Amino acid sequence: MPAKFSLEQIRAFWTQQATEHGQAPSASWSDRMVIEMEVREILKRLSNGDHILDVGCANGYSTVQFASQLSAHIRGVDNIPEMIAQARKRLGDFHGQLQSSVEFAEGDVMALREPPAAYDKVVATRVIINLGAWARQQIALVECARVLKPGGMLLLSEATIQGWRRLNEFRKEWLLDEISIPPFNQYLDENLVIDSLSPDLELVELVNFASTYYVGTRVLKPLLSRALGGTIDVANPSMEWNRWFSQLPPWGDYGTQKLFVFRKR
Ligand SMILES: C[S@@+](CC[C@H](N)C(=O)[O-])C[C@H]1O[C@@H](n2cnc3c(N)ncnc32)[C@H](O)[C@@H]1O
Repeated sequence: MPAKFSLEQIRAFWTQQATEHGQAPSASWSDRMVIEMEVREILKRLSNGDHILDVGCANGYSTVQFASQLSAHIRGVDNIPEMIAQARKRLGDFHGQLQSSVEFAEGDVMALREPPAAYDKVVATRVIINLGAWARQQIALVECARVLKPGGMLLLSEATIQGWRRLNEFRKEWLLDEISIPPFNQYLDENLVIDSLSPDLELVELVNFASTYYVGTRVLKPLLSRALGGTIDVANPSMEWNRWFSQLPPWGDYGTQKLFVFRKR
């Protein structure tokens, strides 16, 4: 399938995000609650002493949260110099307050400069869906696997086609329109990812960590808003409603965003 977007278009988009949003989490996504859930879920699988590579780290918002709750060695890479500049600025603001050693560098997830078998954990959150074509996504996934030590873990938090479909089936029952895939994203086919990585990585878990949150914010919230005559901004992630649903245990299989946990063979 031809690429939806050229690499230049993708770079231009993220450069603009870095310029517009600076150090805010919205540089990477408007739904800050899912970012916080991702951080919590990933932190459960990181350990003190780990050597961690955070690919596509954007402005370092999540990277620095990992570093403040863990005593590890973390390197964040992103291919947008403006994102790395923001991440380094953030690091300066946290000087002396982090338990982990942290560094940020420019780097392309499709051609990592890191040596093979160097990391205990590789974290990739909402990066692979932003490469615009399966051929590129596959190259990036193989690169992530290459830099992992044997027994090391790839923590991949990405939107999947299957998750997106399940959510839309739930919405359809209640006569809500389909949520479309943002044109800039190429959601992952779960089976394709698992099969294509299987020579190097085995799937340990596929965690639907945001299922309850998606039902609460993408099904119940728009229904209530509709009942009230559409006076509530359903897209506002800063509402108490969203905060509450982000604290509930995940039930069901309705989250678009999922965490793949792979172990290197
Ligand atoms: C959605 S943001 C990721 C956010 C971050 N991981 C987090 O946890 O909030 C996607 C990031 O991927 C970066 N990116 C896109 N293509 C990349 C590539 N080829 N190599 C490295 N980073 C890339 C973008 O610059 C952007 O900062």
